Amino acid sequence: MTTAATDVVRQHLIDPEICIRCNTCEESCPIDAITHDERNYVVNPGKCDNCNVCIAPCPTGAIDSWRQVAKVEMYSIEEQLKWDSLPPQRELADAEGASELPPEVERIVAAASAGQGGASPPPWSAAHPYVNLYPAAKPAVATVSGNFRLTGDGASSDIRHIVLDFGQAAFPVLEGQTIGILPPGTDAQGRPHHPRLYSVASPREGERPRYNNLALTVKRVDEDHEGRPVKGVASNFLCDLAKGDTVNVIGPYGTSFLMPNHPGANLLMVCTGTGSAPMRAMTERRRRRIPLKEGGSLMLFFGARAPEELPYFGPLMKLPKDFIDINFAFSRVPGEPKCYVQDRIRERAADVAKLVADPNTFVYICGLKGMEEGVAQALADACREQGLDWDAMLPTLRAQGRYHLETY
Ligand code: A2P
Repeated sequence: MTTAATDVVRQHLIDPEICIRCNTCEESCPIDAITHDERNYVVNPGKCDNCNVCIAPCPTGAIDSWRQVAKVEMYSIEEQLKWDSLPPQRELADAEGASELPPEVERIVAAASAGQGGASPPPWSAAHPYVNLYPAAKPAVATVSGNFRLTGDGASSDIRHIVLDFGQAAFPVLEGQTIGILPPGTDAQGRPHHPRLYSVASPREGERPRYNNLALTVKRVDEDHEGRPVKGVASNFLCDLAKGDTVNVIGPYGTSFLMPNHPGANLLMVCTGTGSAPMRAMTERRRRRIPLKEGGSLMLFFGARAPEELPYFGPLMKLPKDFIDINFAFSRVPGEPKCYVQDRIRERAADVAKLVADPNTFVYICGLKGMEEGVAQALADACREQGLDWDAMLPTLRAQGRYHLETY
């Protein structure tokens, strides 16, 4: 007896061995098909419509797990909640319509033919990233070798440059990747705190070549988005670290928000606040390579409340003008009108459009979730103003790994 094609489905699952329980999938699912208990994050087979919205934001790829199953045998939420690992793919040899393609390939093909995508591919020349080298059960132990305040004395925010040394442990990262920090202790329910993700602020060789270290840009969270007082667990833990303290680190993560490696590539970077971390990593990588004369231009739009609130303001000001075109946008300078990165993009519309239209340009946007729409709109307006067809350009930019967005 064979199973009818309509009876076989691709069931969306989450790999409990890789998942770091960061809640990103549950937050991003538009139809609340993802839920969790203290053990696992799981997908409700009765709700999930395979829209793939959750795939790109997942830092580990645990979300990108699929099994072909007979419809009547789909794994229930209750079953998934008990798993320590994913079950093997069941034999479906008799099933008419069971695909011969591996499920991952099938998903990509299905998404592509539906005109949507999971994560954007990385730039074609990006180096190959390592991911998931250290899971939560076996974190790398890093030692703090520096914790420097980046914001000025009078600044309202405490943003820090924290340098972690990995000693003898191999922890390879690329610019644009993130790592997970496991804060010590437990939450109000007595469960271990879930990991928090931070973008690496150093280039791939670390803060200093031949030192096995990397830096993070961390803002002490002492209020929520509405300005109510709240003490961020991981950010306060990190900002209070002293030299010699140790930190449990998992990861690295990220296979998309990576920089191009080929000579002549241009970078258009837009960020606010600590969204500057990956931009600092990429800029520093390129700065160290200036003597190689590889060409390509850098343009940066950087938003902060005021100069004293802007991480890396001093070092940025010292970069050669012919190396990077920097455009600051300050929103709370007394006596000056509020300015956002999107306002600066509009002011520089002609240059921005010219850069985006260049097939060698790669766009990176990182920072507050709120800026996502405004920046996209400003880029669209800048391009349209210069006679470019933004609506046709954007899907191409994404498909070519030339448009990367990371907001929080
Ligand atoms: P604002 O003064 O309106 O808060 P933060 O210091 O909170 O990390 O924010 C970094 C910068 O991003 C600030 O200048 C902040 O301005 C600005 N910002 C806030 N909302 C947006 C938005 N929707 N688009 C662009 N920039 C924004």
